[in-house]
Amino acid sequence: MSNTNNSVSRADVIFGAYASEKYVVLEKALKRTPEDIIQELIDSGIRGRGGAGFPTGLKWKFAAQQQSDEKYVICNADEGEPGTFKDREILMKVPRKVFSGMAICGYVVGATKGMIYLRGEYKWLLPSLMKEREIFDEYIKSTNIDFSIEFILGSGAYVCGEETALIESMEGKRGEPRNKPPFPVVEGFKNKPTVVNNVETFVNVNMIMRMGYKEYDKLGTQDSRGSKLFSISGDTPKPGVFELELGMKLSEFVNEFGDGDTKAVQVGGASGFCVPRKKFDETIIGFEGIPTGGSMMIFNSTRSMYNVLHNYLEFFCEESCGQCTPCRVGTQQLLKGIEAIKNSERPESYLDQLLKLTDTMKIASKCGLGQSVANSFASIVENFTEEMVY
Ligand SMILES: Cc1cc2nc3c(=O)[nH]c(=O)nc-3n(C[C@H](O)[C@H](O)[C@H](O)COP(=O)(O)O)c2cc1C
Ligand code: SF4
Repeated sequence: MSNTNNSVSRADVIFGAYASEKYVVLEKALKRTPEDIIQELIDSGIRGRGGAGFPTGLKWKFAAQQQSDEKYVICNADEGEPGTFKDREILMKVPRKVFSGMAICGYVVGATKGMIYLRGEYKWLLPSLMKEREIFDEYIKSTNIDFSIEFILGSGAYVCGEETALIESMEGKRGEPRNKPPFPVVEGFKNKPTVVNNVETFVNVNMIMRMGYKEYDKLGTQDSRGSKLFSISGDTPKPGVFELELGMKLSEFVNEFGDGDTKAVQVGGASGFCVPRKKFDETIIGFEGIPTGGSMMIFNSTRSMYNVLHNYLEFFCEESCGQCTPCRVGTQQLLKGIEAIKNSERPESYLDQLLKLTDTMKIASKCGLGQSVANSFASIVENFTEEMVY
C-alpha cells in the first residue's frame, strides 16, 4: 500500500521483473479457463490505464459474453495526450509484455486477431516491434491458440485516441467518434465485438497473471490498485517515466519531482486538472482523487498560467474533429474569450460566462475531448484568476 511518509513509493514491476523471459506468463495463463482469468482480473480491481479507468475485468467479461463469429483485440498506442510518453517507453522496452497481455485477452474473449494502433510519430518503433512479433508468432505456433498481431499507424490526430474514432480510423474512414452506445465490446471494429485497451493495461494484466491478484493488490490503495507509469515533464530536475504506486498525495509527488518552487501541477494532461500549491496536500493521485493516464506537468513560479491555458485551448481548437457544435465552436469561443479578457476588451466577470460555456460543453459534447475541456479550463481559471486579467 502507498506509504504515509512524505515521499512517493516506487515500484518496479512494469519494466523490471522478468522483462527478458520468453512467453512464460502467457503459457501459464493458457492453462487456466477464461472464466477464471476474468474473475482474477475482477478481484484484482484493475482499471484501465488509458485515462477513463474502466474496470478491465468487466470489459473483458462483456466481450466474452458476446456471440459472434469474429472478435478483435485492439491495443491503443495512440498516446496523444499532451505530456504523456509512457506507452512509447513500454513498447520500446517490454513489448513482449504487451503482446502477451493481448494474446491473453484474445484467449479470454475468443478473438484471434489483435491490432496495435500506433501513434504515427512512433513509426520508428516498428522495426523492433516486428522483430518481437517474429518471436511471438513462433511461440504461438507451439500453443493451442490462434492469435496474430498487426500494426496500424495513426496520422497524428489526438481524437483518434478516443476508442471509437480509433476504430473508424482503423477501418480507413475519417477519425471521428461514434455515438455510444453501442460500445466497442458489443459493436467495435467492423461492427464486431472488440476490446480496446491501453498499452499499459495489457502489461498490468500480464503482471496480475504473474503475481496473482493478492500480490498486485499490495501496490496502491483500495480504490487505485497497482502501480502506474507517470510521464513527468516541465519544471523538474527529474523528467522522464517513473513507475509509482497509485494513491500518493500530490505533495509527496512534488517533494520528489518538483524543483523547490512548484506553483502548480497539471495532472492528466490538457484534458486533466490543474492543482495549485495550496491544494497539494489534500490532493490524492488516483481514482479516489484525481485519476490520470499518467501525464504530470510541473510548473514553477516563472510560468504564466494564462499562457498554459492559452496553449491548451489552441490545442483543443486544433484537435476538435468538428463533428459537434458545442466542442467545435465552444473551444474557439473559450480561446477568443480569454484573449479578450487579457486585452481588456472584456471585463474579468466574463470568465463566469466562459465557465458556464464549459459546463454546457461537458454535457452536450459528443465525446471525451469536448467533455473534458472544462477540467483544465475551470481549474486554471478558478485557481489563477488574477493571471487571466491584464
Ligand atoms: C480525445 C481522447 C483521446 C484519447 N486518447 C487515448 C490514447 O491516446 N490512449 C489510450 O489508451 N486511451 C485514450 N483515450 C481513451 C480511450 O477512448 C479508451 O477509453 C481507452 O483506450 C480504453 O483503454 P483502458 O480501458 O485500458 O484505459 C482517449 C480518449 C479521448 C476522449
Ligand atoms: S466533442 Fe469534439 S472531438 Fe468529440 S465528437 Fe464532438 S467535435 Fe469531435
